[in-house]
Amino acid sequence: MEAPKFKIKKVDLRVPANQTILAFLQKKILPEDTPYQTDRGHWWVAYAECGKPVGFAGLVRSTRWTDTGYLCRAGVLDGFTGHGLQKRLIKVRQAQARKLNWNWLITDTTNNPPSANSLISCGFRVYTPGNPWSFKNAIYWKYKVQPDAIQRREHKKKETSRVQP
Ligand SMILES: CC(C)(COP(=O)(O)OP(=O)(O)OC[C@H]1O[C@@H](n2cnc3c(N)ncnc32)[C@H](O)[C@@H]1OP(=O)(O)O)[C@@H](O)C(=O)NCCC(=O)NCCS
Repeated sequence: MEAPKFKIKKVDLRVPANQTILAFLQKKILPEDTPYQTDRGHWWVAYAECGKPVGFAGLVRSTRWTDTGYLCRAGVLDGFTGHGLQKRLIKVRQAQARKLNWNWLITDTTNNPPSANSLISCGFRVYTPGNPWSFKNAIYWKYKVQPDAIQRREHKKKETSRVQP
C-alpha cells in the first residue's frame, strides 16, 4: 500500500480563512491549551491529499533573545499521526530560522515522548534554561541553527574579499 502524501504550506496570516483553519486545528488537537495567537510569527498547515488540513505548527521570535526562535505549538490530527509529519513541521521551522539568520531554536515538551523523539530526530538537544518558563516537569530543548551551503559560500566570499587589497 502506498504511504499517504501530505503537503506542508506556509500560512498567509492576512487571509481570514487561514486563521480559521489554525484556530480549528489548535482547538481540535490541543483542546486543553489556551490557543496561541496566530496574528504574528510564522505558521504552517499540513494538508492531506484530499485537501483536508491535518496538522499545524508555529514559530515565533523569542521574547528574550532576538537571534532565537521558539517552536510555540504543533499538532497532528488523530488518524494522521505516525507518518513523520511532526518531523516535517520541525524541519520547515528549522529552514525558516536559517532564512532569518537566527542562531538558535528553543522549545519545551511536557510528558510527550513522541514530541521529544521528533525533536531528537531533528537534532535538538536537552538543556536547562536559566529561567525555566514552563511546567515543573517540562523538558527544555535547543537547536543550533547551522547556515546552509549557500550561506556558508556567501560568508566565505565576503571573508575573502575583505582580506584582498
Ligand atoms: C506529538 C505529535 C505532534 C506527533 O506527530 P506525528 O506526526 O505522529 O510525529 P512523527 O511521526 O513525526 O514522529 C513521532 C516520533 O515519536 C515516536 N513515537 C510515536 N509514539 C510514541 C510513543 N508512544 N512513545 C515514544 N515515542 C513515540 C515515533 O517513533 C517518532 O519518532 P522517530 O522520530 O524516532 O521516528 C502528535 O501526536 C500530536 O499532535 N499530539 C497531540 C498534540 C501534541 O502533543 N503536540 C505537541 C506539543 S505542542
